[in-house]
Amino acid sequence: MAVDLLLGLQWGDEGKGKIVDVLTKNYDIIARFQGGPNAGHTLEFDGIKHVLRTIPSGIFHDKSINVIGNGVVIDPVVFAKELEGLDQFDIDYKKKLIISRKAHVILPTHRLLDAASEASKGKAKIGSTLKGIGPTYMDKTGRNGIRVGDLELSDWKDKYRALADKHEAMIAFYDVDIQYDLKELEEEFFKSVEVLKTLQFIDSEEYLYKAQQEGKTILAEGAQGSLLDIDFGTYPFVTSSNTTAAGACTGLGVAPNKIKEVFGIFKAYTTRVGSGPFPTELFDEVGAEMAKVGHEFGAVTGRPRRCGWLDLVALKYACQVNGVTQLMMMKGDVLSGFDTIKVCTAYKYKGEEITHLPYNIEPENLTPVYTEYKGWTEDLTKMTTKEELPQNLLEYIDFIEKETGIPIKIVSVGPDRKQTILR
Ligand code: IMP
Repeated sequence: MAVDLLLGLQWGDEGKGKIVDVLTKNYDIIARFQGGPNAGHTLEFDGIKHVLRTIPSGIFHDKSINVIGNGVVIDPVVFAKELEGLDQFDIDYKKKLIISRKAHVILPTHRLLDAASEASKGKAKIGSTLKGIGPTYMDKTGRNGIRVGDLELSDWKDKYRALADKHEAMIAFYDVDIQYDLKELEEEFFKSVEVLKTLQFIDSEEYLYKAQQEGKTILAEGAQGSLLDIDFGTYPFVTSSNTTAAGACTGLGVAPNKIKEVFGIFKAYTTRVGSGPFPTELFDEVGAEMAKVGHEFGAVTGRPRRCGWLDLVALKYACQVNGVTQLMMMKGDVLSGFDTIKVCTAYKYKGEEITHLPYNIEPENLTPVYTEYKGWTEDLTKMTTKEELPQNLLEYIDFIEKETGIPIKIVSVGPDRKQTILR
């Protein structure tokens, strides 16, 4: 049985959590393959809003098993709080949630290192969520990390101590003003590790292989977005994992030829949180209106998100790198009421018109070239069928489909599960 893959095509916050939640009924297993608690996957149903950080978005469905893959980095402290948040829903997570032994553990000092590194960068800071993601992946690729499987070994605390001591020396090297009480942080950390250890640790690549042999259906869930990919994103303003399709292979141990559908999620406009280039960013009242209507504040940090028009150059690039087979357009409802909808189809770059992402996107050298569409005024949030969608929105959708060559199969018109139109 093949594995389907769902990922974000922009700078994150596209609404992946909602779509995984909507699609989960079709899958036996939902598996997260990268990132960590820098993610905030928001799900809304029955009037309740819930934000997941590390736990896959299938957790609210009775049937599905949720796997945290080897490519994920786990902070036991955040994880224990996440489990606490699930308690009110009466979910049997000891049965429904399993964790790869090969996933890496975020230590308290990883978080401190993240803060020290950002503080030392001054104006050039990445705008990290400060969850320790970068330093943890650095230790992983530097072959110094602690893995979930290590927590079952009797000497893991010796390894912990050596690594934490090294981190403290590194924090001192940065010479920035970071206040912390490591003893207190460690107390919380060791307590949370015990909570983590109450869950099942598995060799998830074996588990997923067997599941495929048995004909089970699997959905791989990405976090962040393609333009935050460590290789293909707007480096260095990126996260530290491969958020693109290849990340699902390395982050779960799924072979490339086993991947079938690649669902690419994008917003009808664009947002970005944190620093870095964003060619279609709006600094006027239109951008402010998008932020207001779309409630564009980070689910993890509460930071306001930067807003702008849809960037088709970047979207096509993301579709290409990921091999997207189906598109899903989110937050179409937010664009209701604008007289004109703009979509960027090329860039003017150093006097030339180009249709690819240049190696360096320096804002001073790059201006978006827009195609304009007539807006619509109808409130989409109550619509339930594709026949109800306004003609001007359909024209916008048609244009995106033609440009990308990929069908838009879902149009989301609000945060609730029910506000999902299938095409
Ligand atoms: P980090 O992964 O927390 O170090 O953050 C690196 C960059 O990725 C920053 O610009 C963050 O704002 C951005 N980022 C990380 N996770 C997310 C996410 O889940 N949604 C949107 N942006 C994110």
